[in-house]
Amino acid sequence: MSTAIQTSTPKKILVLGATSGIAEATCRLWAAEGAALFLVARNEEKLAAVAADLKVRGASYIGTAVADLDDTDQHPALLAHAINSLAGMDIAYLAHGILGDQTAAEQDFATAAQIIHTNFVSPVSLLTWLANYCVQRKSGVLAVISSVAGDRGRKSNYLYGSSKAGLTAFLAGLRNRIDREGVTVLTIKPGPIKTAMTATMKGAEKFADVNQTAKTIAGAIAAKKDNLYVPFQWQPIMFVIRNIPDRIFKKLNL
Ligand SMILES: NC(=O)c1ccc[n+]([C@@H]2O[C@H](COP(=O)([O-])OP(=O)(O)OC[C@H]3O[C@@H](n4cnc5c(N)ncnc54)[C@H](OP(=O)(O)O)[C@@H]3O)[C@@H](O)[C@H]2O)c1
Repeated sequence: MSTAIQTSTPKKILVLGATSGIAEATCRLWAAEGAALFLVARNEEKLAAVAADLKVRGASYIGTAVADLDDTDQHPALLAHAINSLAGMDIAYLAHGILGDQTAAEQDFATAAQIIHTNFVSPVSLLTWLANYCVQRKSGVLAVISSVAGDRGRKSNYLYGSSKAGLTAFLAGLRNRIDREGVTVLTIKPGPIKTAMTATMKGAEKFADVNQTAKTIAGAIAAKKDNLYVPFQWQPIMFVIRNIPDRIFKKLNL
């Protein structure tokens, strides 16, 4: 019987929003490769269950921190602790987000502001610190989950969509600034995926499989891509949607 010899050092990966269905599925792939993972989530019980599962699946190291990522004041200390604990960082994976209640947000600014804070302001705070860390070291991958919903505002979810549009634009500018410093910025735009976030939506049973999605994301991170639509057919679909003239688009029920 031959013994497998590990030739490369394990990847050091920081995961923000580690209890997300998409993040957890991606971490399972990394754990099987023996990666070192630092997991941040706000629900202590769920986080402990995810961490235990990833350890069993082969992660070489698991660190955890419980944090509400809306609390931007905590970010610098949290990130410094995570990277210290990993003794470095090759990849940061930002997965936290909320769909929010579009109908409520149309009437109530506090609801709208919450969606924008969690999906846009919080990642901007985290990425400002992480980008500067990576630039100093001239390496690293910042992989961030935005959404196809950010490609064009629609009446059914334009608060969520605009928070993701802001995030996508921020990432495009950040990439333009730091790619030349040796730092990769990957914008991930999933279409509808079967996770807790979409479980109660109409037609959810037909949404894309989370494990397949995770495989595609892990591949794009390893290949240091700039942008990813997942599943891939959302790239041409969103091209068409972006190009529908407003005189027609405003009459559609999307
Ligand atoms: N599923 C889709 O169809 C789809 C499509 C496009 C984009 N996305 C994006 O993909 C990412 C992952 O979503 P998912 O589909 O995996 O859904 P999910 O399972 O509901 O994951 C969302 C995660 O975000 C966490 N979170 C929300 N607010 C947080 C906060 N303030 N602090 C810390 N954690 C917070 C949630 O924690 P709790 O469990 O504690 O609530 C949960 O773990 C999100 O950014 C989402 O917008 C999803």
